[in-house]
Amino acid sequence: MSRRPIIAGNWKMHNNRAQSEELICGIKDAIKDIDKDLLPEVVVAPVFTSLDIVSKNISDCACGKIQLAAQNCYFEPKGAFTGEISIDMIKDFDAKFIIIGHSERRQIFGESDELINKKAIAIIEAGLTPIICCGETLEQRELGVTDSHIASQIVKALENVKPADVANVVIAYEPIWAIGTGKTCDSVEANRVIKVIRTTLAQIAGKDNADKVRILYGGSVKPETIKEQMAQSDIDGALVGGASLKADSFAQIIKGAMK
Ligand code: 13P
Repeated sequence: MSRRPIIAGNWKMHNNRAQSEELICGIKDAIKDIDKDLLPEVVVAPVFTSLDIVSKNISDCACGKIQLAAQNCYFEPKGAFTGEISIDMIKDFDAKFIIIGHSERRQIFGESDELINKKAIAIIEAGLTPIICCGETLEQRELGVTDSHIASQIVKALENVKPADVANVVIAYEPIWAIGTGKTCDSVEANRVIKVIRTTLAQIAGKDNADKVRILYGGSVKPETIKEQMAQSDIDGALVGGASLKADSFAQIIKGAMK
């Protein structure tokens, strides 16, 4: 099964409009001479207030070399939900992906599996692709419950999603203890957990659909780690935080994931 790799940059709460424009121009410049067919699918997820400026800058990026993602959304189409943003509003900027279930949203903002499931369903109905994050804490890993925790997060996130739609979602396995710590999860171990995710997907949606799902690794991905990560059987790319904030290091990660 050949799955097109994805390298996605989650800019988190960094970069105002001018800084976002500088970064996206730097990334564009770094990959401008590379044939699109050789590149992984490149995705950037700026803050909401930079979606427009980044969207404008990538719309002229020959043959869609860079896709836009939002970092969050609300599942209702409109209404009295102060501070929230709907999926249709995100579509205004021609975004193709929305990250949901990031551990920072689960832990800091108290997002539940149920809420993440509602977002996943709404994103799919709107014709966009959710990037659904999952991951265990250090405590869960030490207790030996990593696999059951991850499987449960996946099952709950995808409840009532049609098997054919499961095939099109993107999953990001991000062990929480590896995020922003510089401690990358060993590639063989990350691949093992990602296989657990794929087995869980097969139970939900059948093996053929599960084999189509792109599953990314996230957590202190760096230019030095990407080649080994991409060499694993089931790692289909990376969701990158810190190293996506510099055009040079993000471009090196993109190049490390090239065919
Ligand atoms: P870092 O790459 O900074 O560890 O962040 C990973 C992450 O949370 C991406 O969503």
